[in-house]
Amino acid sequence: MSENKLIRIALTKGRLEKDTVGLFEKIGYDVTELKEKGRRLILSIPGRNIEVVLAKAADVITYVELGACDIGVVGKDTIMEHGGKYFEIADLGFGRCRFALATKKGSAFYGGYGVKTVATKYPAVTREFFESKKMDVDIVKIEGSVELAPLLEIADGIVDIVETGTTLKENGLEVIEDVAPISARLIVNTVSMKLKKERIEELTALMTEALSKGQE
Ligand code: PRP
Repeated sequence: MSENKLIRIALTKGRLEKDTVGLFEKIGYDVTELKEKGRRLILSIPGRNIEVVLAKAADVITYVELGACDIGVVGKDTIMEHGGKYFEIADLGFGRCRFALATKKGSAFYGGYGVKTVATKYPAVTREFFESKKMDVDIVKIEGSVELAPLLEIADGIVDIVETGTTLKENGLEVIEDVAPISARLIVNTVSMKLKKERIEELTALMTEALSKGQE
């Protein structure tokens, strides 16, 4: 029966992990293994026939796309950059931040005629953003601390994640335009959605219910 089938959830390690474990706890799941995981990467939620796989964000999408995991918890940032074939079924509301275009304070990014250079960890998101503006830009892929690029003068601006804005502020940069809001999303493998429909719907309802209770 569908109700007893194992559900494997891929969970993005780090920032989203803590909120998701907190949510499972609220639902009433035993999260002892998740809290005392050590270096283990596959944990179980006892008595629920649920396994939790801890992975990097882009890999969460890969595991869900390939059907190795039924469900994934991943940021909209990774979804926007990665694309792919799966269902995005819920906005979990936590992990809230945004994609923004930032420059050195006071610089006129939209001024002048030359093609601007934009540094980012998210080239697909950046390409789409400027394509929607019909603006030609050169994109430089940077792996982390993207804020360095304008400071080292290899880029006129950056498209990056802004949460509190502290990193930008402390490095003399400022947001000149918001690109897109970001939060954690629940994604589901397309086949699992059919074969394990009841269990997935039940789990989604429990999660969204617990989330809405937290907001009251
Ligand atoms: C992210 C992002 C910014 C910073 C924004 O970086 O790329 O650098 O957080 O947060 P703030 O607005 O609260 O300052 P992360 O810590 O993931 O590291 P990375 O830059 O090396 O990717």
